[in-house]
Amino acid sequence: MLNNRLAADSKRHTEGRANDLFEKCRNFARPAEYKAAGIYPYFEVFGSHEGCEPCEVWMGNRKILMFGSNDYLALTTDARVKDAAAAAARKYGSGCSGSRLLNGTLDLHVEVEARLATLVHKEAAMIYATGFQSNYAALSALTEKGDYLLCDHNIHASLVEGALRSPARTVRFRHNDMSHLERCLDNCGENDKVLIVNEGVFSMEGDMADLVGTVELAKRYGARTYVDEAHGIGVLGRTGAGAAEHQGVLDDVDIVMGTFSKSLASVGGFVASCEPVIDYLRHTARPFVFSASLPAASVAAVGKALDIVQEEPERRTRVLATASRLRRELRGRGFTVLDGETPIVPIVVESDFDLCRLCRGLLAEGIYTNPVIKPAAVYNLLRISCTAAHTDSHVDRLIETIQRVAAKLDIPLTGIAVRHTMTQA
Ligand SMILES: Cc1ncc(COP(=O)(O)O)c(C=O)c1O
Repeated sequence: MLNNRLAADSKRHTEGRANDLFEKCRNFARPAEYKAAGIYPYFEVFGSHEGCEPCEVWMGNRKILMFGSNDYLALTTDARVKDAAAAAARKYGSGCSGSRLLNGTLDLHVEVEARLATLVHKEAAMIYATGFQSNYAALSALTEKGDYLLCDHNIHASLVEGALRSPARTVRFRHNDMSHLERCLDNCGENDKVLIVNEGVFSMEGDMADLVGTVELAKRYGARTYVDEAHGIGVLGRTGAGAAEHQGVLDDVDIVMGTFSKSLASVGGFVASCEPVIDYLRHTARPFVFSASLPAASVAAVGKALDIVQEEPERRTRVLATASRLRRELRGRGFTVLDGETPIVPIVVESDFDLCRLCRGLLAEGIYTNPVIKPAAVYNLLRISCTAAHTDSHVDRLIETIQRVAAKLDIPLTGIAVRHTMTQA
């Protein structure tokens, strides 16, 4: 009763006034337009995986073939990972109820941090509650006024937000353009402190950064390097350490960041570097200090996933081979597929409207793929992500369905020209 009266009062006092903060929300029409057209592609509701193959999920009473998950090694439904998480929840409880700095550090955190540091050849690592938080915290805490952050143009939003929060000057170099990065380095003063920020695998487009070039320039100019390996960990490199290992420069990268929400079958993230950097971040990164620590179940899942990354390298071989075959076959049918050698296979679609129609059409046929609409990526992309659980017949079904649905809906997918450098507009 009281709540209703308060709501009515607040409506009377503010609605229609020029200074109503909520005005923009009432005028926020884009989702409604997509919904009215029957092509709104977000917030689909999925059920469990019970009784499904690892790359399937329930949606109501239909089994959906999932080609939109970043569970690259197909470990989120692995019985060993689930058991480890369940056992940890039973042993430690469902949450830590405190910051790592105070009561929130478990022996599990410390153990998994040491393993992550070893994986990426660094002295120390620290776990954050999310991958987003890892980037946001590290970039903002590590830099000071007058420093430079030189960032690839296509980096993830979490890195962009970290750079925005940082007091350093941020310069974006053209995507994977090492001569432009060199010019940016030239423009920094000799005594300026510089951090070059890159992504091992670009999350939407699926291409790899030129980390050899990045590291070489960093050394020449005395800059430090930061590589986000969210999509590379577990999948690339001899031991699954990511794109830097794949390119033979892991030891030369100063700071490696990774997430647990992709190959490591959990949620959370980490930053690894030399001991002084990690110790500094542990005491100064506000999103780390003033936020509760990751629950034991999530950490234990990472620990088990790390075991499997080490013991079953055939999973990464499998997912890379599947993605490579898919890329080849789609190209063979004239589709424009962005370059890459990762599990992410993006098909370029000219209009966002067609992209949403295509995704709806595929879903009606029981296949989920991700729509990525500009400016979230350089192009409108049907972003397909492969996992180690996809078989050749899943891939055949996907290709056949895309072709059939695109033809039925009259969506052009062939002969779309793309620029060579994929810098965002
Ligand atoms: C490159 C990259 N970095 C960081 C993140 C954030 O990670 P998380 O979703 O685990 O918070 C993502 C998430 O998709 C990502 O793609």
